[in-house]
Amino acid sequence: MVSTLTPLQLITAGSGALVIAIWLYTRHRSRLNLPPGIRGLQCFSQLFNGKLWLGMQDLNRQHGDLACGSILWVHTIIIGSAKVAEDLLEKRSVNYSDRPRSVMCGELSGWGKIMLLANCNDWFRAHRKLFAQEIGSNSTVAKFHRMIDFETRRTLRNILDDPARLQAHIRKNFTSIALRISHGYVTQEGTDPLVELAQTANSQLSLTSTLGAHYVDIVPLLKYIPSWLPGAGFKRKAKEYAAVLHDLVEIPHNYVKSQLAAGTALPSLTSRILGKPGLTDEVEDNLKWAAATMYQGGADTANSVGYAFYLAMTLHPRVMKKAQEELDSVVGASRLPTFADRPSLPYMEALVTELLRWHTPAPLTIRRANVDDEYNGYFIPAGSYVLVNIWAILRDERTYMNPLEFRPERFLGDNPEPHPGNVCFGFGRRRCPGYFLGQSALWLMCAQALGTFDISKCVENGVEITPEFNLVGETLVHQAPFKCSIKPRSSEAEALIRQEFSLSE
Ligand code: HEM
Repeated sequence: MVSTLTPLQLITAGSGALVIAIWLYTRHRSRLNLPPGIRGLQCFSQLFNGKLWLGMQDLNRQHGDLACGSILWVHTIIIGSAKVAEDLLEKRSVNYSDRPRSVMCGELSGWGKIMLLANCNDWFRAHRKLFAQEIGSNSTVAKFHRMIDFETRRTLRNILDDPARLQAHIRKNFTSIALRISHGYVTQEGTDPLVELAQTANSQLSLTSTLGAHYVDIVPLLKYIPSWLPGAGFKRKAKEYAAVLHDLVEIPHNYVKSQLAAGTALPSLTSRILGKPGLTDEVEDNLKWAAATMYQGGADTANSVGYAFYLAMTLHPRVMKKAQEELDSVVGASRLPTFADRPSLPYMEALVTELLRWHTPAPLTIRRANVDDEYNGYFIPAGSYVLVNIWAILRDERTYMNPLEFRPERFLGDNPEPHPGNVCFGFGRRRCPGYFLGQSALWLMCAQALGTFDISKCVENGVEITPEFNLVGETLVHQAPFKCSIKPRSSEAEALIRQEFSLSE
């Protein structure tokens, strides 16, 4: 006799079968040969208990350059060497160039349209193309040398007048350079609203994108709960962040439009594209977000390295003196160093290279594996988070002798150690599009500062204060605020800083 099932029994049986199928599938996949590592609660205690990059470094030391941390069905693949990073993120870039889903930052706070969080689709490619046209090589960046020189001199003068606000002056320096290129906007003296806006937006980006900081990234369905419910504070915060991001994108864009209408717009990425005939809404939207990305992206990383430069010089007077001797013999004391001097200043070049290695403003990069993959016999499941420990690679004793030392000499001579640029700017299709601009602007800032300033430990109540190397932040790090003494090297140096200069090109 055939008995028929009620709808309720059918649903129950169907759900049971589905749960068993998911369990079998998950168990089968978890038994595949994942890279060695840790599981479950141990991940929280070892990886997410303090600085993520330190936990990752421990894991790689214990289990090798390809390790894995798994919580339930979520696998985090952790890479601790440049070789593995290049093999996966560069040679297999088709699979490893997307970012993981980010609900709090990318979806609720709206940052998903910024290049940093976008996946490798047409939108992303269009943005990379605009960046490449504008600042994609040393020769494209060369057209901005005059402007970079102007901003760097302005910064020297600001530091001379008000050394206590060193970090703010450096931030303004790099944001001003980016804003000139993206929107033709010249920042005003003193506090500038667009510099402040970028800082607020970047700190919110950092807060929302920190791995594991928001439950909604672990359980995306939470994004649908109403904002007024207790525990939904993250939704109210996201709304606040989205409003700041809206300003970051719209305010400079509308500024260019009004300048174009008045016939006073300075050349920029935005004015160039807006001025083209047949502009569509789609192209304009694309442009608006790409230009905002340049303004926001240019504002923070280089600024973080620029501030670390003053710490490095405070802690390493021998290096500072050696660079100053080179500057004195090549440039002399009667003018400031310029980009034309760069090839003749190898020690200065090595100093900036060492700064990038020693400070590491972006300690990690994060990707997602799009499809199942295998590497050296290990299984990397589709959907895994893939984290590269840039911080540890640049302190790897297999590559760098005494890696904690600040020693520009490691990049000079017959057997220089590997240039950190291939690691500290990221990898493959997503390598930092500000690579050339960032390095040029940093170089000039460091060279002009050492040409004119003596930087040293400050003395308070007769006691010399030694600042510490102390990174704060998660996805983007800065040196914790520190004190140092910044004095003009001579009255001639002070006169050079105060010399009139103009922005006209
Ligand atoms: C010393 C300076 C800088 C350093 C060390 C640095 C480092 C990095 C790193 C490590 C990444 C992640 C790459 C990856 O996922 O593999 C990145 C991405 C990015 N950087 Fe930079 N950066 C610097 C300066 C700049 C500047 C000046 C700009 C803009 C003008 C910029 C714009 C960006 C953008 C838009 C991305 C996202 C790229 C993508 O996701 O495809 N950066 N940067």
